[in-house]
Amino acid sequence: MIINTHSHVNMLRETPIETAIENLNKQNITAIVPSSTAQDIFEVNEFIKKYDCLYGYIGVFPEEVKTFTDKTLTDMESLIRSNPKIIGIGEIGLDYYWDKSFKDLQKEVFIKQIEFANEMGGLPLNIHCREAFGDTLEILDKYNKNSKAIMHCFSGSIEFAKECIKRGIYISIGGVVTFKNASKVKEVAANIPLEYLLLETDDPYLTPVPYRGKENQSAYVTYVAEEIAKLRATNVEEIYRATTENACKLFPILN
Ligand code: NI
Repeated sequence: MIINTHSHVNMLRETPIETAIENLNKQNITAIVPSSTAQDIFEVNEFIKKYDCLYGYIGVFPEEVKTFTDKTLTDMESLIRSNPKIIGIGEIGLDYYWDKSFKDLQKEVFIKQIEFANEMGGLPLNIHCREAFGDTLEILDKYNKNSKAIMHCFSGSIEFAKECIKRGIYISIGGVVTFKNASKVKEVAANIPLEYLLLETDDPYLTPVPYRGKENQSAYVTYVAEEIAKLRATNVEEIYRATTENACKLFPILN
């Protein structure tokens, strides 16, 4: 089994969903689907029920924190209690790339969701962090008590990766690692301990080579793994073995 820890299968536009699912099943890939807004947590909840190979995270994404209300955590709690396929909180975090005008609101909603994950028994956090490396670690250090965390679509330096690993945070690598000019991500993928490595696609975005320019899909996670194997001078089976073992440790239901 191969595990794709971040894949918006529900957001495909060009690829029919049934085709994407068939491609996952053909290669024995399990994918975890994140949500983005306080409304689409319901959509993700229903969507993952339809396909055996899908699981989900619910949470409110930094760019969508304005959709977060007093009711959101109550909604999240009832979804988690009713659907065992919701296995983490995400994607949540901080993004200072597009719009810095509501940094404080981003932080507030991030903190509330971390505390919620802690209260729910330590549900894993799927973290979106873009140009907000210092603040993200500061908040995790202060507020995260008992939840494991994944840095999704890792885009930081090797130094930042080491800071994450020191804290037990997993590093999830996506299609960017296949881009010729992505020297930072390649360096991280080549050098971090295998015990902290995870695979993802973040489809429909960030399509790996050789499909760059087309719509990304979940099954292309194999191209991510192949590139990482090449960078580490090992075989792809070793990458699958390690990343599946790591994901199963985080999410025992996948075992
Ligand atoms: Ni995403």
